[in-house]
Amino acid sequence: MIKEFVALLVVAGIAANAMSVHTANKDFLVKQKKLYDLLYFKTFDNELLELAKSYDVGKNIDSYENKTVVTEFLKRFQFGMLPKGKLYSTQYMKMRDEVTALYNLFYEAKDFDTFYKTAIWAKMHLNEMMFSYAYQIAVFHRPDTKYITLPPLYEVNPFYFFDSQLINDVKNIKMKYGTAKLEKNYLVFANYTPMCSMDTYLESDHKLNYFMEDIGLNSYYYHMRAMFPLFVSDKNLNYTRDVRGEIYLYGHKLLMSRYYMERLSNDLEDVEDFDWTMPFVPGFYKEMVHPNGVMFPQRESYQTLPSYKYKYMKEAREVESRIMELIDFGYVYGLDGKPVDIYTPAGYNVLGNIIEGNKDSYNGRYYKNLDVLIRKVFGATRMANHKYDIVPNALDLYVTSIRDPAFYRIYKRIVNLYQRYMVNMKPYTREQLNFPGVKLNDVVVDKMVTYFDQVDIPVTKALSFKDRIDEMSYSIKARQYRLNHKPFSYTFDIESDKDTTALIRIFLGPAFDIHGKRINLESSWMKYIILDFFEVNLKVGKNKIVRSSTESVFVVPDELSSEAFYAKLQKAMEGSEPFVYTENIYGFPDRLILPKGKPQGMPYRLFFHVVELDKTQIVNMELPLMGKLYHDEKGMGYPLDRPICIWDFMTPNMYLKDVFIYHEDMMQEVVREKIHEDEIKMKKLQAMNN
Ligand SMILES: *[C@@H]1O[C@H](CO)[C@@H](O)[C@H](O)[C@H]1NC(C)=O
Ligand SMILES: *[C@@H]1O[C@H](CO)[C@@H](O)[C@H](O)[C@H]1NC(C)=O
Repeated sequence: MIKEFVALLVVAGIAANAMSVHTANKDFLVKQKKLYDLLYFKTFDNELLELAKSYDVGKNIDSYENKTVVTEFLKRFQFGMLPKGKLYSTQYMKMRDEVTALYNLFYEAKDFDTFYKTAIWAKMHLNEMMFSYAYQIAVFHRPDTKYITLPPLYEVNPFYFFDSQLINDVKNIKMKYGTAKLEKNYLVFANYTPMCSMDTYLESDHKLNYFMEDIGLNSYYYHMRAMFPLFVSDKNLNYTRDVRGEIYLYGHKLLMSRYYMERLSNDLEDVEDFDWTMPFVPGFYKEMVHPNGVMFPQRESYQTLPSYKYKYMKEAREVESRIMELIDFGYVYGLDGKPVDIYTPAGYNVLGNIIEGNKDSYNGRYYKNLDVLIRKVFGATRMANHKYDIVPNALDLYVTSIRDPAFYRIYKRIVNLYQRYMVNMKPYTREQLNFPGVKLNDVVVDKMVTYFDQVDIPVTKALSFKDRIDEMSYSIKARQYRLNHKPFSYTFDIESDKDTTALIRIFLGPAFDIHGKRINLESSWMKYIILDFFEVNLKVGKNKIVRSSTESVFVVPDELSSEAFYAKLQKAMEGSEPFVYTENIYGFPDRLILPKGKPQGMPYRLFFHVVELDKTQIVNMELPLMGKLYHDEKGMGYPLDRPICIWDFMTPNMYLKDVFIYHEDMMQEVVREKIHEDEIKMKKLQAMNN
């Protein structure tokens, strides 16, 4: 079955041959610069300002493929859309309708030039957040802007990646020093939310703030949800196969497994379940501020639902039990009364679409949008009195969702639905799992080490600017420590009785629970994450194969900073260095692939599986943002995507290995201490010349 592994690939980022590298031609370079600039700069230069003022969508209606889209958009625009300065969230239907109209307008532009002009016009006339979201989605999905890189989100919008203290510090620098010191760079220190502001019994969750607030992880989640936006149908996305539902389910499963292991490393139990009628455990106390100055709503711990949320709760409960019924029953009926079997590869995707409640849901009237509803129930909202007076909470924005501890309770629930589905399928047989004649004797793994490194992130865009000259006059960076690991490698000793091609999968999972009790595969298959997936040629006899963690197809390095990106672009424009780019622009951050270790070593388990590669069963496809997929029919999660009979599972082509992950602590101590000293919170350093 193609099923689950596609999603894995996708979610994790890159697939086996997704490393295709291109060299940009002149045309690509010009587009790249224009599109990057338009998101990167908050202000217009003179040329763009003229364009923004003079462009008229209605007069250029012939430049759009679907004219109905244009006239409908213009009607909305003339009636009035979300005003500038207001806050936007895709979770509200009215705003979703507006952003859809804008996205469609972008998407229907017949050529690049029309799209670009439309975008410039929209940036001037429409709400900033709505423009920015529709614009990014359009660049990700238009065929003529494929593989274009946009600036890192955390640079463009520091508000959603750093706390209000940092934003304040940045603003103070402008107040204090103005543009007097044009040559200088400024440095501020970025905190993760400190534990001291929490209730003591809940503090435990906030041990993970360095993980939940990691800028790379938050960007990754945003991009994962941008691959198939809720409001866009698959049909408008030009894919070879429907995979969005699988990606939704498997993406969240993977994220939850990874999170579970980070909890283990911090001596925390798995997250607790919630009951619809009981107080909801975790609070949200992070102090974040929206670009218009309004604070994010907070949620008290052990909160009971306010009465205006009863209606969402009632509906979410109802929809959840309908979906459970669907999973156990096995068939979904469309509005036309036609049944679809969900226990097929295509049916798996249908189920994912139903749970997400996206545009492709097979019966959206009956199954609604569980994903949206459940966020509404637990998100810390204030009731809006007017359709435009919303104050989005962390769960209302994909870019801040995983900062809220509620996120993990909610998705544990959703992943439970996925698990229920998997449990309803039969375990694989020994015959399916085995690879006769091939034996995996041993795998030697280098010492695995995690540590906290330190990075300086440009946060200048938290400021407001008079014009382009003003905007170019500052360089302020935030220094933050974050989890990372040293590269390591695996050495495989494989014996084969034939020359053959094989696929090797590497998984990481838990070894002991927090009470020191052994966890076996039977009870933990769901908790494993895939680390790598690759093709090898085996010869008769002994084979020694070495694979480095840096070669993993699932991860991507950190995004280039705008500084580095512009330098690269500049060189290419001058012709001194070619501009190379890959097809997988986004993916899971390499830095975070290993859970944090401990100084004395934190036990985990690696699971390896060598299977025969049948070249006729290869699936090749391409996904937005994450690039090409190349895999066998089994799926990347195979064989740990189904329940396991532990007494009849291990075959000679498998290998289980206990490993320790070590944590080297120096950086953490140094930086933490610094960060906790308020007096040095804001510190001006001399030019950093990096
Ligand atoms: C054009 O857009 C309208 C409104 O979104 C839609 O109903 C219609 O089917 C589209 N026409 C074509 C030819 O795609
Ligand atoms: C759709 O995808 C196919 C195959 O990748 C490509 O040839 C075609 O140009 C695409 N069409 C559009 C409208 O993007």
